[in-house]
Amino acid sequence: MVTLEVRNINKYYCEGESRVQVLKDVTLSIEKGDFVAIIGQSGSGKSTLMNILGCLDTASDGSYFVDGVSIENFGPDDLARLRSEKFGFIFQRYNLLTSLSAQENVALPAVYGGMGRAEREARAHDLLVKLGLDGKTQNRPNELSGGQQQRVSIARAMMNGGEIILADEPTGALDSKSGENVMKLLMELNAEGHTLILVTHDRQIASYANRIIEIKDGAVISDTRSAPIIKEEGPEIVSVSRSSWQYIRDQLGEAFRMSVQAILAHKMRSLLTMLGIIIGIASVVSVVALGRGSQEKILAGINAMGTNTIDVRPGRNFGDRNANRYQTLTVDDSDALAEQSYIASSTPTASSSGEMVYRNRSATGSLSGVGEQYFNVKGLELATGRLLTREDVDRARAVMVIDDTSREELFPNGEDPIGAIVLFNKKPFEVVGVTKKPTATFGPRSSLTAWIPYTAHMARVSGSRTISSITVKIADNVSAQVAEKELTRLLTSRHRGVTDFFTMNADSIRQTMESTTTTMRLLISCIALISLLVGGIGVMNIMLVSVTERTKEIGVRMAIGARRFNVLQQFLIEAVLICIIGGFTGVLASAGIGALFNAFVKDFPMSFSTGSIVLALTCSTLIGVIFGYMPARRASMLNPVEALAQE
Ligand SMILES: Nc1ncnc2c1ncn2[C@@H]1O[C@H](COP(=O)(O)OP(=O)(O)OP(=O)(O)O)[C@@H](O)[C@H]1O
Ligand SMILES: [Mg+2]
Repeated sequence: MVTLEVRNINKYYCEGESRVQVLKDVTLSIEKGDFVAIIGQSGSGKSTLMNILGCLDTASDGSYFVDGVSIENFGPDDLARLRSEKFGFIFQRYNLLTSLSAQENVALPAVYGGMGRAEREARAHDLLVKLGLDGKTQNRPNELSGGQQQRVSIARAMMNGGEIILADEPTGALDSKSGENVMKLLMELNAEGHTLILVTHDRQIASYANRIIEIKDGAVISDTRSAPIIKEEGPEIVSVSRSSWQYIRDQLGEAFRMSVQAILAHKMRSLLTMLGIIIGIASVVSVVALGRGSQEKILAGINAMGTNTIDVRPGRNFGDRNANRYQTLTVDDSDALAEQSYIASSTPTASSSGEMVYRNRSATGSLSGVGEQYFNVKGLELATGRLLTREDVDRARAVMVIDDTSREELFPNGEDPIGAIVLFNKKPFEVVGVTKKPTATFGPRSSLTAWIPYTAHMARVSGSRTISSITVKIADNVSAQVAEKELTRLLTSRHRGVTDFFTMNADSIRQTMESTTTTMRLLISCIALISLLVGGIGVMNIMLVSVTERTKEIGVRMAIGARRFNVLQQFLIEAVLICIIGGFTGVLASAGIGALFNAFVKDFPMSFSTGSIVLALTCSTLIGVIFGYMPARRASMLNPVEALAQE
């Protein structure tokens, strides 16, 4: 019964301008269970013919039938399936994968064939034992002799059944004794029903076969049968219990294992490749954490300000550089505001900075002239002594309340500040109270601050009736927006229609801050994107190198039944794995940076969010997929014969 049949096939190779014809009008059929030797001189086209018979290569024209079915319309994956199910290849140079043990090499065709793990391991082991490699199953190819390696590759050819075994110069690299052993083995296989096609230039080796086909310059010149076919029916069929779920899991598991091995085989290179991703991810996560930390700190400060106060300041808006030209807010404005129903209290503030002196100590600080309501409005609490009173303000008394920082600075040895005379810009004031340390502040440490009645400030320090700001407390049942609108209308009309002041409350500050942080975040994201892009390009680069380096391996995998998808998957997993490990290390590195930062910087903590970490890891996975796809696709598109020819 005919199993393989070629009719009038030609094979051309284009070499520059000229077209070389390697096979000329070859027609032959091979019967089931036969042992055929193809013999001819070097360069006669033996390997080319065999590759076509084994569906590794296709003829330029002519037709080819496998078990009576034309393969003319078969795509690369159909051919891969055919190779996996029907053929087993034995190469002159064994072509075992160096990173796998003998048993893993033998089992590999079954991975692509879809056999379960336990089943294929047992079968691979049995085959190796049968071929006399008991005890060598866990050796790597480089720990085996040439003859042993060739036996491993014979076992691999039989793994999926090996109905038709194609051997290209199987004894070419062996000494005559080992060569003889291999030939004996092949004869035994033939006796069991395996169809055998052997390519050789050696007549002695060819004489083992039942039928010898001689080719010269690509044409068949003789075809002689010396012995009958021993056994016509094929070998036992290897049944594959393929459940699609198990198949997918096995493929993935195998690809994953191979990827890990490939990464481990080039530790330094993998590490350097990851470095781009590590730095990218670590900087993104750290910067986001820094941003969050400082923002939380500032928000806490804003919240401490209270939501029911409004600050009125001269100038057009926050940060107006010409603000000091608008000397327009007056105590009368404040008094007018205080009379409004929607305002609970209003307190003018006039500030100046200067030198505070107590005995032989001096420090720079700011002095605010305030109303008696100020402390209540700002939520400042008293530590010792008393706060300013209405009477202090009315009489413009030279009394002063200092904050905790000023107390630490001017009275460091625990002296009682109450009753002490402190000079501010050479003007004496009597300290009557000390405030408590506020719970949250903007700066690392609040600067020295002291408060005196605004009347005293105008009379003794600034000498003018204009003030630097008005702080109002909104009445309980009035919303901040309504109060702000009414207040603006009132002051604008008092200032003859000119809006030479602006209002600030916790809400508006928060909004301003949030809009600036959004801009910042956008900027940081752009920088992060660029650094990750650079990292991704590094990954792509190394994957391309890896594909080039492992072209032969890819060819071997394809010869034993790997489909394009299997190859694509394997390289993609490798790229993604590199990126995920890089991303993970990056997150860990940034956690380390955070721990250091929080240990040494006390101003605000770095605040990591799960969201940003998840996002970073997702990003690194995506980078692996995006930048790994091109090299992986290139690997999967390789032509098996060309890949195998690569050294
Ligand atoms: N990819 C290719 N491009 C161009 N020419 C090729 C290619 N592959 C093979 N050839 C040519 O085809 C011819 C046959 O090659 P083939 O490998 O089939 O020879 P062979 O009979 O197996 O020789 P050997 O005994 O040395 O292995 C050679 O002349 C070779 O130069
Ligand atoms: Mg050859």
